[in-house]
Amino acid sequence: MEQYIIKGGLPLKGEVSIGGAKNAALGILAAAIMTDETVTIENVPNVRDTRVLLQAIEGIGAKVKYVYNNSVQINGGSICDKNVDYEYIKKIRASYYLLGALLGKYRESHVALPGGCNIGSRPIDQHIKGFRALGAEVDIAHGMICTKAEKLTGSHIYFDVVSVGATINLMMAACMAEGDTILENAAKEPHIVDVANFLNAMGANIKGAGTDVIRIKGVSRLHGTTYSIIPDQIEAGTFMFASAATGGDVVVKDVIPKHLESLSAKLIEVGCQVIEGDDWVRVIGAKELKCTNVKTLPYPGFPTDMQPQMSVVLALAKGSSMVTESIFENRFKYVDELNRMGGRIKVEGNTAYIEGVEVLTGAQLAAPDLRAGAALVIAALAADGVSEIEDIEYIQRGYEDFERKLQGLGAVIERTDSEREAQKFKLKIG
Ligand code: EPZ
Repeated sequence: MEQYIIKGGLPLKGEVSIGGAKNAALGILAAAIMTDETVTIENVPNVRDTRVLLQAIEGIGAKVKYVYNNSVQINGGSICDKNVDYEYIKKIRASYYLLGALLGKYRESHVALPGGCNIGSRPIDQHIKGFRALGAEVDIAHGMICTKAEKLTGSHIYFDVVSVGATINLMMAACMAEGDTILENAAKEPHIVDVANFLNAMGANIKGAGTDVIRIKGVSRLHGTTYSIIPDQIEAGTFMFASAATGGDVVVKDVIPKHLESLSAKLIEVGCQVIEGDDWVRVIGAKELKCTNVKTLPYPGFPTDMQPQMSVVLALAKGSSMVTESIFENRFKYVDELNRMGGRIKVEGNTAYIEGVEVLTGAQLAAPDLRAGAALVIAALAADGVSEIEDIEYIQRGYEDFERKLQGLGAVIERTDSEREAQKFKLKIG
């Protein structure tokens, strides 16, 4: 299995270009099948999750053409199957976006029920509630969710929970329903706005995305378009926090600083310097990181996908900090790994109590999930000595060229897929 070998202790320095937002791309790629015309999507991150979703889209008969590394063309005119196999959904949950896209376009969809995952049970009751409100029959049997509707009629849907996935799925299902739909208590993340803008570029009529009330006027058909995906706020944040943890000086480029405001605010709180440009943010690490408290919240609050990375910075900050996870119920699995590096963190319920330490030490680690894995890379980069991180396929789900980008900032990191290669690199770095 592939692993990262990392020699820590060096401050990251330089510039890094940020790719397209994974969590916008997954909604947009699914929505692209809603027209029979060709859609060109640019700035698509070339990561495992987008590759698997594109395979699922090809699997139902749509045409997918990889124009070049980060651009794809999709044509949904040849779709012949409304069944999305379990093999795709078990690889990525976001295949369930095809539920809303196929229901909206064909009034029918069958998608394998997503399991829980490493960060929590992640039910989809709000998605189902919304589909039923639009007039669809929704049945769950044999591990599949089956939706079917004679017709879809606009409705007033109030989400009991702020849900990114349900908001995106219902925007897709409602944009080709008859009449008006209102989504209340909608998610406001930048990727919600990006999916809404994309659907509007295809001829949909969606207003209010980015606020908690989204108004949709159903249209009878959607047309082709060309669209470029927004930068990934979590990839950008991961590099910003890597700079803070290693006492570095890093410029993240091709970003939208507004999307990073909650992250920049926390970095300033812990003593870093943050300088914002039009499409870049520079983070200069503090001589001595200061403790603080953070609670994850829906956008524009501090994002849950940056919670593990925040804990690594606070593990190295002077004093006591608290990190409260309010979105998912099981997102502290990286804490045991950090404590094996000398961290002093205790988890009680949905809060991690962190006593900062002077230094972390390199160790053999395993990535528990996507963002926790990225956080362990940051910890290894900051630590004294050499670390080995296994199960890095989790990390590759959401970060394109991660090790190459880090090498560009001076990191001593290598991806190896054999014990021999690992030994060779460890000998080389000494
Ligand atoms: C999206 O997941 C992201 N994934 C997650 O990023 C992100 O952590 C999450 O939003 C929150 O921002 C993608 O966009 C592919 P939710 P999603 O529905 O849509 C509960 C990453 O690292 N809920 O907003 O599944 C749910 O249990 C990934 O890139 C219900 O109760 O998240 C959770 O507690 C990890 N019923 C809360 O809402 C539902 O029907 C937020 O979940 C749906 C959700």
